[in-house]
Amino acid sequence: MSAEKILVLNSTGKVGRNVCRALREAGFEVHGTTRSNNNRLAAQGVKPVVCNYTLRADLDRALAQSGAKKMFVITDYFGAAKKSSDLEFQQGRAAIDAAQAGGVEHLVFMSVADAELFDEQVKHLHAKLAMEKYLRGSGVPFSILRPCAFFENLDDAANWNPLKKGVVKFLSLQDCKYCATYDIGRAAAIQMKNPQQWLGKTLDVIGWQGDLAQVAAAMSKVSGLPVKARLAMPLFLRRLFLKDLHHMFLYYEVQKGPRGTPQEFKKILPDALSAEDWFHFHGQYSNGDKIVRGA
Ligand SMILES: NC(=O)c1ccc[n+]([C@@H]2O[C@H](COP(=O)([O-])OP(=O)(O)OC[C@H]3O[C@@H](n4cnc5c(N)ncnc54)[C@H](OP(=O)(O)O)[C@@H]3O)[C@@H](O)[C@H]2O)c1
Repeated sequence: MSAEKILVLNSTGKVGRNVCRALREAGFEVHGTTRSNNNRLAAQGVKPVVCNYTLRADLDRALAQSGAKKMFVITDYFGAAKKSSDLEFQQGRAAIDAAQAGGVEHLVFMSVADAELFDEQVKHLHAKLAMEKYLRGSGVPFSILRPCAFFENLDDAANWNPLKKGVVKFLSLQDCKYCATYDIGRAAAIQMKNPQQWLGKTLDVIGWQGDLAQVAAAMSKVSGLPVKARLAMPLFLRRLFLKDLHHMFLYYEVQKGPRGTPQEFKKILPDALSAEDWFHFHGQYSNGDKIVRGA
């Protein structure tokens, strides 16, 4: 029997590339959208589909070209939606409408854990709930994944936080819930393979919980080197210059959100990655040097 086809939107992003990897490993024929001909996708075993994932006409073409009846949908407030919730909603709606028109049989939408519980200041999450609502009313068969903070934030050179030897930085030192973007893909594979169990359902993706000192201890164990835990910027600067993210972190720090737990998620994905597992999985510092010496 030939592998089932799935179209992954924004397949070259932090989420997309690891979602593609997990879906490939789960046996799907993965088609990934990218705006330019991208050989790295092909090297990963993903079939590149030239498509701007925010445009309806491109999405219609990508679905027709790939022949996929399954779809993984990502939207992005900060990048593609240029910090506009309205634009992010329109982009998500275009993907859902394209799925409807293209006869998609299962759409997995990536939202955010506890999206309804953040305060008004957390603007980058406003569109998530609106898109969930639109999806529920669309008639497209769906499941929703609601991830917490990505481990990938610990190595994010584009946002001035490259992972370097001997130090790990984040916007909070406090206890936080993390997930690997790879586990978003593994959870999507579970939902796609068990539609009778997962259609119409939502799953929080929360792999591990700990404070930054525990993250540093995990990196130290993997690298064999001492690792310091540091704030990526002082808290007063976070409050002044990253108001949106500051309020998101207040939900984590003061209200101890999100509500879900790694224990709950591990009932679905028992080997969800811990911090230590993630450093092994990620494998390298931002400059390409290996985290595990001699690896
Ligand atoms: N960071 C977290 O902890 C966290 C936690 C939960 C949820 N999220 C959610 O994750 C999502 C972001 O996903 P991500 O981190 O995977 O995104 P990302 O890495 O920023 O995506 C980058 C890709 O977006 C494409 N792109 C960039 N600008 C574009 C534009 N103007 N039009 C069309 N495509 C464009 C590019 O692909 P091509 O050049 O190949 O086309 C690029 O490779 C957000 O919705 C966020 O809310 C994040």
